[in-house]
Amino acid sequence: MSLRIQSFEEYQANYKNSVENPEQFWGEIAETFFWQKKWDNVLDWNFNEPSIEWFKGGQLNITENLLDRHLPERANQVAFYWEPNDIHAEGKSITYQELHNEVCKFSNGLKELGIEKGDRVCIYMPMVLESVVAILACARVGAVHSIIFAGFSAHALADRVDDAKAKLVITADGLNRGTKKVDLKSMVDEGIKNCPSIENVIILNCIDSQPTMQEGRDIDYYQLINGQSTMFQAEKMEAEDMLFILYTSGSTGKPKGVVHTCGGYMVYTSYSFENVFQYNEGDVFWCTADIGWITGHSYIVYGPLLSGATSVIFEGIPTFPDAGRFWQVCEKYKVNQFYTAPTAIRALMSHGTDIVNEYDLSSLKVIGSVGEPINEEAWNWYYENIGKSKCPVVDTWWQTETGGIMLSGLGDLSPMNPTHAGYPLPGIQPVLLDSKGNEITENEKEGYLCMKFPWPSILRTTYGDHERCKNTYFSNYDGYYFTGDGAKRNKNGMYRIIGRVDDVINVSGHRFGTAEIECAINTNKFVIESAVVGYPHDIKGQGIYAYVVIDIENEEDYAIIQSSIIDSVSNEIGRIAKPDKIQIVTGLPKTRSGKIMRRILRKIAEGEKANFGDTSTLLDPNVVDSIVENSI
Ligand code: PRX
Repeated sequence: MSLRIQSFEEYQANYKNSVENPEQFWGEIAETFFWQKKWDNVLDWNFNEPSIEWFKGGQLNITENLLDRHLPERANQVAFYWEPNDIHAEGKSITYQELHNEVCKFSNGLKELGIEKGDRVCIYMPMVLESVVAILACARVGAVHSIIFAGFSAHALADRVDDAKAKLVITADGLNRGTKKVDLKSMVDEGIKNCPSIENVIILNCIDSQPTMQEGRDIDYYQLINGQSTMFQAEKMEAEDMLFILYTSGSTGKPKGVVHTCGGYMVYTSYSFENVFQYNEGDVFWCTADIGWITGHSYIVYGPLLSGATSVIFEGIPTFPDAGRFWQVCEKYKVNQFYTAPTAIRALMSHGTDIVNEYDLSSLKVIGSVGEPINEEAWNWYYENIGKSKCPVVDTWWQTETGGIMLSGLGDLSPMNPTHAGYPLPGIQPVLLDSKGNEITENEKEGYLCMKFPWPSILRTTYGDHERCKNTYFSNYDGYYFTGDGAKRNKNGMYRIIGRVDDVINVSGHRFGTAEIECAINTNKFVIESAVVGYPHDIKGQGIYAYVVIDIENEEDYAIIQSSIIDSVSNEIGRIAKPDKIQIVTGLPKTRSGKIMRRILRKIAEGEKANFGDTSTLLDPNVVDSIVENSI
């Protein structure tokens, strides 16, 4: 059975059925996969605990579904084309059979290192085929992977390694990024020196930097796998065994490890991939995300492979060697479905259309957007200049926690409306709640976006801290999963995402908690305290604005201090989280009980000079005038 819906009417019928008979609906879809043992129950759930179990009693290995299952028909079909950063370097490709063999060899290597089912393995790697092999080998042996975006700092890496108590890190000597080479190995050395759980580090040679290898700990990637057998009996996993942990930021505290499990994640990523992108046999799909984010997990690795697709993996960046690179890659591989982020679209838009028109984009059938709201101007530019006004734009709304796309059009089947993510996928039951937790039934009224029923790839817990999962997602509104986003619904039932309603900022589609950035800033020796807010940014969607109180009075030193603060954030989190603006202030607007009134700071960051509403509870209202006067 193909998982693909073929008309809007069919979508409507499926949607209705998925709400009325969810167990039957998902049971039938799950039947299309290979299970070593069939499940006893399709779904057991309780959002209060929360406890969510899909396909309980079922046993499977996801890699048998995305490799072995396809071999009779697809052994020689390309699974991935790999396009290197350097436009003149030779690309590579890997077929399903070759990928199977490499994954088995790596799995044997992992076993040799003593990696067992349930062990945690951190992957800190570039966008190369070997990264996919490493990910899938973890899944094949039953180890839990935790991929850490290679733009995170040594410190951020250490936090995640420590939280997961990982035994192994898989990394590379470095990575290529435009004209730069980034050293990963020394970052790992630095990061894990205080992580006692780590027993080994596997290093892939990507930039020929000949790093120093630590005897007894470090192993070369190919030395480990060369000569290994190309067969490996996949570990038997329970449907609800952990598949991976992926750390993501929230309003409070350190990033938390979102946990996804084997069975439900498999069913939903494949189902959503085929339907949203209307992927057809023989098509070439390209998702430009990094494998370090959930988009890369679900729509570079798992979804496309589960569906037997051919995809592109790109090592580089959209503007190297010039702003035509994405379009050059689309032309080269005759990409049919292209999936990227609004921030990339806006950045490329600023280079004009001449460079786009140098390339033949006629292979494109569906173009997608993910990660942040897409503004109307960017939507129109994308639709007209990339999709040539014939390709539907699928504006896909989802989250690390949802595992797969939740709200979106389905290729060219669904009506489109710029800036509206659109309709829920079958099985997804969104609601908008008011601040009292009542469901909003009127159209065009903003509310808190929640889900009232589980779907197969919903997060199960946050690693090592179930209470945190409950408090973050299931306690704001009893009986609902709370997304943290505000949204509206139009008269046709399409959803429009307004943005986060919590202290999370979305910078170029990357999620950061304001508290997390403040903590990083506060590690700076000159800083007494700080407050961070988001503000509208033309390219990044949101920029980071930091208000900082320091213990130096001499204004001549401010520039040095600002750059030292940027270094602190780069060290603690990574350069991706560095503030765009740092304003040195004499004090922060606090209430008498000591709470920072971020509402005011947000308005100032947006350029507001007056009208801050009720400021009577402020300890010192004069602080506001001084901040406004010196705002950037
Ligand atoms: O605010 C929403 C925004 O990104 C958040 C999730 O971030 P993350 O877990 O990093 O996952 C990003 C990729 C799936 C959401 O809470 N977001 C994501 N997609 C959209 C979006 N906002 C508006 N429109 C979207 N299409």
